Amino acid sequence: MQKQHTNPPKCAKIKLVEEKISQIQNQYSEKIQKAQSLKELDILFLALFGKHGEIDLLPKEFSKLSDSERRKVGPLFNQAKQNLEKAIETQRNKVREESYKKLETEKFVLQPERLQARTGLIHPLDQFEHEIVELFSKIGFQQYESPEIDTDDYNFELLNIPAGHPARDLWDTLYINSKLLLRTHTSNAQIRIMRQYKPPIRMMVLGRCFRHEAVDARHEHTFDQFELIYVDKNLSMANLQYLSEYFLKTVLGKDTKVRLRPKYYPFVEPGVGIDGLCIFCKGTGCKVCGGVGWLEVGGAGMIHPQVLRNGGIDPNIYTGIAWGPGLERILMLKHGINDLRLFRSGDLKFLEKFK
Ligand code: FA5
Repeated sequence: MQKQHTNPPKCAKIKLVEEKISQIQNQYSEKIQKAQSLKELDILFLALFGKHGEIDLLPKEFSKLSDSERRKVGPLFNQAKQNLEKAIETQRNKVREESYKKLETEKFVLQPERLQARTGLIHPLDQFEHEIVELFSKIGFQQYESPEIDTDDYNFELLNIPAGHPARDLWDTLYINSKLLLRTHTSNAQIRIMRQYKPPIRMMVLGRCFRHEAVDARHEHTFDQFELIYVDKNLSMANLQYLSEYFLKTVLGKDTKVRLRPKYYPFVEPGVGIDGLCIFCKGTGCKVCGGVGWLEVGGAGMIHPQVLRNGGIDPNIYTGIAWGPGLERILMLKHGINDLRLFRSGDLKFLEKFK
């Protein structure tokens, strides 16, 4: 026997829709009033007004109604929609107000034991600078500041390195314009110091230098140098040797192996490279020392007579020592660091080792 579908009469259909509207309104009004948090209210809002929410789906029921019935039900639906929206907004405000009131009465208790003390620390390069200043102050050296942006004259010309001289290639220079540059070495202080002070002179200069380098484990574009300028009568390479040993053995330990080897710098004569034995390979040659077995930490020499003259000092009466190591290279040896780029990497894990 064929099953007969019994469609509800038209007046029954509108009743069903009206009932559904008031049922949704009653059911959700109650839930909204009970909601205690903004999160609960967000969930209710989505259940009503979100895609496939009750309010979104209800108008589908209207298709079963006649035009006149729709006109009757439409305002009812709109009213229910507005009531529910308003109810949610009112409850949201109520929840907010209550949470503010709670804050006013709540007491904040500081629990210092739960606050982790996190203090800053002095950067290893600054720590090292302080150590150096202390060390050389003890033997009569004073600190002097020379500019990081300087003229070609002080950085090169007056140091016996005229424009076009092949020695300029020793310094990959960052020029600001044809006359101004970022200092490539702290030797830019030499002429200033000699012109400003009368011998005997014992000065030290510490600070950043800049070069257009092919950066690697031993070369940075920004690095720190330290320079001693020592002008007096009768100074010799023996004094230079003493300064090198005094410094490197104090900083790196009594057993440190130091060597001075001839090296050309236009502003000293004779000139030397100061090397420390590579602590990574103990002299056999590795990636860090570039296969040499020694790591160059600085350059030095007896100040060239012409440079003394440029500084207003008579080379027939006075002699001078200029001595200039790089700070990062020495710290590499001191702490067994195989890449000096770590110093300016901002890597806290690395920096916190220097507490
Ligand atoms: C100079 O800069 C000379 N002014 C040193 C000097 C002073 C010679 C006084 C004579 C008398 P040099 O370019 O070799 O020389 O650099 C000296 C030291 O600075 C190097 O041995 C090294 O320790 C450090 N240094 C140089 N270039 C870099 C770099 N790109 N990155 C890190 N350290 C560097």
